[in-house]
Amino acid sequence: MPPLSNMAVRDIETVVHPYTNLARHREVGPLILNEGKGIYLYDDKGKRYIEGLAGLWCTALGYGNEELVEAAASAMRKLSYTNVFAGKSHDAAIELSEKLKELAPCPASKVLFGCSGSEANDMQIKLTWYYNNARGRPRKKKIISRERAYHGVTVATASLTGLPWVHADFDLPIAGILHTSCPHYYRFGEAGESEEAFADRMARDLEDLIEREGPDTIAAFIAEPIMGAGGVIVPPRSYFPKINEVLAKYDVRFIGDEVICGFGRTGNWFGTQTMGMAVNSISMAKAITSAYFPMGAITIEEELYQAMLDESRKLGTFGHGFTYTAHPVGCAVALKTIEIYERIRIIDHVRKVAPVFEGRIRRLGGHPLVGDARAVGLIGALELVADKDTRRAFGPKQGIGAACADTLQELGLIVRPMGDSVAFCPPLIITADEIDEMFDIVEAGLDRMEERVHHENLRAA
Ligand SMILES: Cc1ncc(COP(=O)(O)O)c(C=O)c1O
Repeated sequence: MPPLSNMAVRDIETVVHPYTNLARHREVGPLILNEGKGIYLYDDKGKRYIEGLAGLWCTALGYGNEELVEAAASAMRKLSYTNVFAGKSHDAAIELSEKLKELAPCPASKVLFGCSGSEANDMQIKLTWYYNNARGRPRKKKIISRERAYHGVTVATASLTGLPWVHADFDLPIAGILHTSCPHYYRFGEAGESEEAFADRMARDLEDLIEREGPDTIAAFIAEPIMGAGGVIVPPRSYFPKINEVLAKYDVRFIGDEVICGFGRTGNWFGTQTMGMAVNSISMAKAITSAYFPMGAITIEEELYQAMLDESRKLGTFGHGFTYTAHPVGCAVALKTIEIYERIRIIDHVRKVAPVFEGRIRRLGGHPLVGDARAVGLIGALELVADKDTRRAFGPKQGIGAACADTLQELGLIVRPMGDSVAFCPPLIITADEIDEMFDIVEAGLDRMEERVHHENLRAA
């Protein structure tokens, strides 16, 4: 291994890295990325990479967008900060709320802002509880999420997240957060079970959980249209229509987590539209500003807003708010981001290039290492398996997903391993030629991995 640079050593001694093996990091050091342009990033040695995961599923318009830089700079010059506490407001907050209400895939009465996806989902939990208290249903408080879901890392949203390493030794999940089955047909479908029968079983699992816990205790269900960090899991098409029916039957609030899928990723403005989810509210973040400013937001349905009004009459105030709720720079950047999406017709663009993206992913389904190849719009994944016929996974010690991502990084493509899956989620502005460039690297990387698996006998059970 080459010696670590001075900056790498300084990193190791100072920076705590999320979702990193901190012990291993002390040996291998960081990848230092200081510059970006379009879909490309450059490391401190000048090496170029395709950003195959849009940062963390967020840099939809890519890097170096001068319009967004200018929107932020001029907003800072005009009014670097104000807030919306105690009845104050500003034009950008008003205009952005109107725009989000117009775009929302569900009836939205109001918009409430935070600074991240975690904060958005945290607010969803708080408002669900607040609503049921206001309506005299103090028992109706439990929230159902799903195994392998990702909804954030605050105490409450890490509890919603259905990944064991997000809970372990943090004393999570907290009480009142439940997880139902993960609709990953390739992994959890039973022998001989059709996709339709699998979706029926998933809906039945949810209904059984509600019945077991007591329907009068279940307040909300939260779901990503396509599960991102859990491995880009695309449920069967009939899954959400069946889930909609169960939730309606038991009067359960349906929260759509649009943090990754929102703003065009799946070929519609929102993933809930693509997947047929009858949600009451959505959480947004990431592409809302194309990651040029930290921002999160939720829509609030009229019924819930009426309950909030009643609480204000009773308590004298709405007792919630972050210092940076509706930050004027964030609102200006979000407005400009959405204006650009509309002007360049980002949805049409995604629909145009998605067949190339989906086609290249599906073609890789024939590779000896790939068990499942899945994609919707411009998000997808390859699930690597030791045995394609039996779907047997590699042993966890082999870290096949991470090894594959490392190989792709050496070849100039940044992606994200999630267990044995490798995820792809490029900036939405990617062209068809750039998609080909990206998957040429993936093909070369997989071939290199296959050689290694063969030579090191990694398939041995
Ligand atoms: C679907 C989903 N919800 C919520 C979050 C949390 O967002 P943040 O990291 O901005 O807190 C993420 C982050 O990746 C996400 O993918």
